[in-house]
Amino acid sequence: MIDKCLFPAAGYGTRFLPATKVMPKEMLPICTKPLIQYGVEEAIEAGIHTMAIVTGRGKRTLEDHFDISYELEHQIRGTTKEKHLADIRNVIDKSRFVYTRQREIKGLGHAVLTGRHLIGKEAFAVILADDLCVSKGDSVVKQMVELYKRERCSIVAVMEVAPNEIISYGSIAGDWIDDNLAVVREMVEKPTPDKAPSNFAVIGRYILTPRIFETLEKQSAGANGEIQLTDAINALIKEEKVLAYRFSGIRYDCGNLDGFVAATNAIYKQMKGL
Ligand code: G1P
Repeated sequence: MIDKCLFPAAGYGTRFLPATKVMPKEMLPICTKPLIQYGVEEAIEAGIHTMAIVTGRGKRTLEDHFDISYELEHQIRGTTKEKHLADIRNVIDKSRFVYTRQREIKGLGHAVLTGRHLIGKEAFAVILADDLCVSKGDSVVKQMVELYKRERCSIVAVMEVAPNEIISYGSIAGDWIDDNLAVVREMVEKPTPDKAPSNFAVIGRYILTPRIFETLEKQSAGANGEIQLTDAINALIKEEKVLAYRFSGIRYDCGNLDGFVAATNAIYKQMKGL
C-alpha cells in the first residue's frame, strides 16, 4: 500500500553549529539514537519497507549508520554490549535504504522533487526527521497510512499552535469533517499571523500521491526564496482531494534547541520508565 518513505536530509543544521559542522544534523542523538533513526522506526511501524533518503554533501555517516559495522559487531559479539545494537539491527533487517543527493539546498519542495526517481508512481510518506513524534498508540505515520487506506488521497499532519508561532509553519484552511479531519482548501507557507488562514500548522509528516511531483515541477520559489512543498500541495488541491489530519501524539521540533532538549527529556523518561 504505502511502501516508501522519503526523508529529506540535506539541510545544514546551522542552528546546531558547531555540532553540525562535520556531523549531519540527522545524526544528532536524542539519548542513544540519532534523530533519523526515530523517523525510520516510525516508518517501519507503519509497514513501510523502503527508506528513500535525500542526502547532500557531508552526509555519508547516514549511509554508514544504516549498514553493518563488521569490526564493531565482531568485537562485541557474545558480550553484554551486544544488546545495544538490537534496535539498529532490526531497522537494517527490515528495511531497504536508497539514497540520492540534493546538490543545492533549494527548499523542502526541491528536496522532495529530487527524490522523485526513488519513489516512482506510487503514493508515499514523507518524514521530516527534525520533527520527532511520540505517541501512546500507533505512530503518527501509521495513523496516516491507516487513513490513506480508507481515503486514498494526500494527507498532511496538523496541530494547533499559538497565533504568533504560525509564521514558522505551513498553515491550512480546511472544512472540518470531524474533530480530527479536514478537507484542505488552502495552504500557505510561513504566513504572518494576519495572513494565516488558521492556527493549524502542518508538521513534518505527509502522505502524498505521485501527482505532487508534477505540481512540484511547476513551482517557482516561494517563502524564503525556496521551492516550497506547501505551495505544491496548495496547487495539488485544485486537482485532487487533500486531507489535514489532527494526529494523536506529541511532536517535538528538534530543529531548535528547546525542542531538542524537550525531546531528549521525554525519551529519557520513557527509557527509564519514569
Ligand atoms: C517545513 C515545512 C512547513 C512545516 C514544517 C514542519 O518547514 O516547509 O510547512 O510546517 O516543516 O516542521 P521548515 O521547518 O523546514 O522551515
